[in-house]
Amino acid sequence: MNSKTLVLKIGKNNFEDTISRAAHILKQGGTVAFPTETVYGLGADALNPDAVRKIFEAKGRPADNPLIVHIASMDSLDKIATDISPIAFELMDAFWPGPLTLVLKRKDVVPDITTGGLDTVAVRMPDNPVALALIREAGTPLAAPSANTSGRPSPTTAGHVISDLSGRIDAVIDGGAVEVGVESTVLDVTSDVPVILRPGGVGVEEIRKHVGEVVIGYTDQAVGEGEVVRSPGMKYTHYSPKTKVVLVEGDGRAVAAKMSELIESYSEKNMRVGLLITDETAGHVSADEMYSLGKRDVPEDAARNLFAGLRYLDGRDVNINVIIVDGSVKCDGVGVAVLNRLRKAANELIEA
Ligand code: TXA
Ligand code: MG
Repeated sequence: MNSKTLVLKIGKNNFEDTISRAAHILKQGGTVAFPTETVYGLGADALNPDAVRKIFEAKGRPADNPLIVHIASMDSLDKIATDISPIAFELMDAFWPGPLTLVLKRKDVVPDITTGGLDTVAVRMPDNPVALALIREAGTPLAAPSANTSGRPSPTTAGHVISDLSGRIDAVIDGGAVEVGVESTVLDVTSDVPVILRPGGVGVEEIRKHVGEVVIGYTDQAVGEGEVVRSPGMKYTHYSPKTKVVLVEGDGRAVAAKMSELIESYSEKNMRVGLLITDETAGHVSADEMYSLGKRDVPEDAARNLFAGLRYLDGRDVNINVIIVDGSVKCDGVGVAVLNRLRKAANELIEA
């Protein structure tokens, strides 16, 4: 595979040029990582099976885990999906471009490798000028999973992409840090009642305002071998640092007390402790390394800091033996997705 990954820093002065260089690589069947509003994606021509195969190889992603197809205009939707319900159109109207992915009936032009052999296709229109310009210039929908090695925390900066995939992809466009920080909400709208397959950037409450009833079709736990899941992505390890992660949940005071107890007992065993912690709890405890999730009742900040924090505390130079995570973040709106990612990343969950 590619030995050298091109890093394309994009700004006002070179916007057009950079997009056209990157689009050229995509048109040739190459792979380009790019920023979206949620996390960085690893893009390839969604309709070219050879190009899409390179995504799976670079990430080490299981072949039955389908990809999200990214579009920049409603014209492309007709090309790839069919039997789209009025509810689906209403949701597109309300949330596109934005962090909502809709699972729709696919058309045959979408290759099996993109959909993991399913008869549905997941589609979203990202809310990021670089992403939209790139899709337009490439002239084709882009398949793009999060641009991390499979199983690792998702990338929220180009640096994260490079640390996972350098030498394994053709290029990365560096457009700075993302805004949302967790992935899109995945909603299956192929049945009468929509099913949430993954919580994400758009909160359940917001979706309910438009569709009334929704079914929660995901769990926060890693699903065991052999269980039936509606979204293939559910059954794999996710968002996991190499370092052990202990998540402490409960109300603020209880969490602070429990974390302080844990820090003491790990320190007695001569383990170096890292904390991913809200500002409020940080007033009560300290450890070898600390990374802020922001204020407890601002889940938007926790979303933005979550993956960068896990990656920082998992870094070689900080040399931490255990990461203790403050789970007192408000579980509301995007906070639902934050807690979901933390539970999936955790090796141990403690109710304080
Ligand atoms: O915010 C995002 O969604 C980011 C950015 C780059 O757009 N992308 C992303 O892709 O998170 P990925 O591949 O990391 O996660 C896609 C999720 C997986 O859990 C996958 O199983 C599910 O969407 N998915 C994709 N196609 C599906 C389908 N046809 N039916 C059910 N689930 C599907
Ligand atoms: Mg992912």
